[in-house]
Amino acid sequence: MPVELRWPGKDDRPLLPEEPPEAPRLTERRGEAPDNLLIHGDNLRVGSWLRGAYEGKVELIYLDPPFATGTRFSLTSALGDGTRAAFEIEAYDDRLDEPGLFLASLAPRLALAHRLLAPEGLLFLHLDARASHGAKLLLDEIFGPRSFRGEIIWLPGNGAKRRSFFSLQHQTILAYSRGDSWVFHEQDPSLREPFAPGSLKSHFRHVDDQGRRFRRRVVNGKEYIYYADEGRRVGSVWADLPAMAAGSPVVGESTGYPTQKPLALLERILLACSRPGALVADLCCGSGTTLVAAQRLGRRWLGCDIGALAVHTVRKRLLDLPDAPFSLLRFPSAPPSAPSLRASASQGPEGVQVSVEDFHTEGPRGPGGVELLDAWSVGLLEGDVFVEQWSVSRSRKRRELPLRSPVLQLPEGKRLAAQAYDVLGRPCLQELHG
Ligand SMILES: C[S@@+](CC[C@H](N)C(=O)[O-])C[C@H]1O[C@@H](n2cnc3c(N)ncnc32)[C@H](O)[C@@H]1O
Repeated sequence: MPVELRWPGKDDRPLLPEEPPEAPRLTERRGEAPDNLLIHGDNLRVGSWLRGAYEGKVELIYLDPPFATGTRFSLTSALGDGTRAAFEIEAYDDRLDEPGLFLASLAPRLALAHRLLAPEGLLFLHLDARASHGAKLLLDEIFGPRSFRGEIIWLPGNGAKRRSFFSLQHQTILAYSRGDSWVFHEQDPSLREPFAPGSLKSHFRHVDDQGRRFRRRVVNGKEYIYYADEGRRVGSVWADLPAMAAGSPVVGESTGYPTQKPLALLERILLACSRPGALVADLCCGSGTTLVAAQRLGRRWLGCDIGALAVHTVRKRLLDLPDAPFSLLRFPSAPPSAPSLRASASQGPEGVQVSVEDFHTEGPRGPGGVELLDAWSVGLLEGDVFVEQWSVSRSRKRRELPLRSPVLQLPEGKRLAAQAYDVLGRPCLQELHG
């Protein structure tokens, strides 16, 4: 008899949303890439809409949802002018710590992920010990227990902080396949980690003609050679990919978005379990680590997040990549208090130059001006879609934001516009008449 998990309301409504899916509105694009979609909205709504075009087509889905930690995650930002008058911006609220509610919210999202996966597709669900056991039973129900491929224990290296019991030092990534076969590149170099120093010292005593240290082992009469510089194959405990804590070697990657995962973690998952050109999705994309990894590795991608700050962070990361075309879509929601922008364009013989003249927004500590401007772009309008041509933004390291663009050579006869984002990730647009 199959094991079944119960949660409040389980029998009252179907697992998958029944309402006909609505379409999000295309608001912006950079270059041409029909599949690289960044969508601002609830992943239930987004996933239902994606089924129309992508059901059974996604090779890898990574989901890093709120862990039900009971915490409100925020980002600490400095004012744009660099003064350290830091303020807190809420990134997302993870206070759904009642286990039944958490499962009830996760179940339809996992069911959607199951539908989106290709026959050889894999789902990676990133949680921690507080949530992973219930989620495992849920996944057994949705995917079938035979589809459980394994559990990865990731050690972010954050140190032990708890005094009342053993500190939780690991996170759990559950992997399920859609069908009986799946993509796994077991020879990929990213699936290697350095041998332990003790092992290197005691076992790798030989050196070949090229100066490579190696170990020779004979098992059942068969000889095996292991090279020290190739490292050993990683298993299910990943201790070699540190998170972005202060002092970590990857701290430079940090966007400041809380719970941002390191690129190396996503690159390992993508290299191991997706093919070049395949479609990868992350429906809780946060700062966009999966999407950036997919872009760098030549995969196509779909990403969504409910938070304006998350979408803004992803957009900035994508614009920082030299060649990352994407489309940004949004589900209509209650109109946020939008910032206001006044920009001007001056046409010269060499091209057009755009300047931000004024900017106002309601910041976390009340109204403010350009110190709350986080990014702005110059683009062309196609209908009401902003087609990005040039952008600049602040980052953790780059605090200064020029308010004048370089001279840009843009196609003639097109409608010119400037778009600005405030520190909360809220956009505003102004058409420019030069
Ligand atoms: C743990 S973070 C993801 C971090 C991400 N992996 C990264 O590397 O930056 C979880 C994200 O899920 C988003 N989220 C929460 N509920 C959501 C929903 N219903 N639909 C879409 N995104 C949601 C949050 O806004 C948050 O950005």
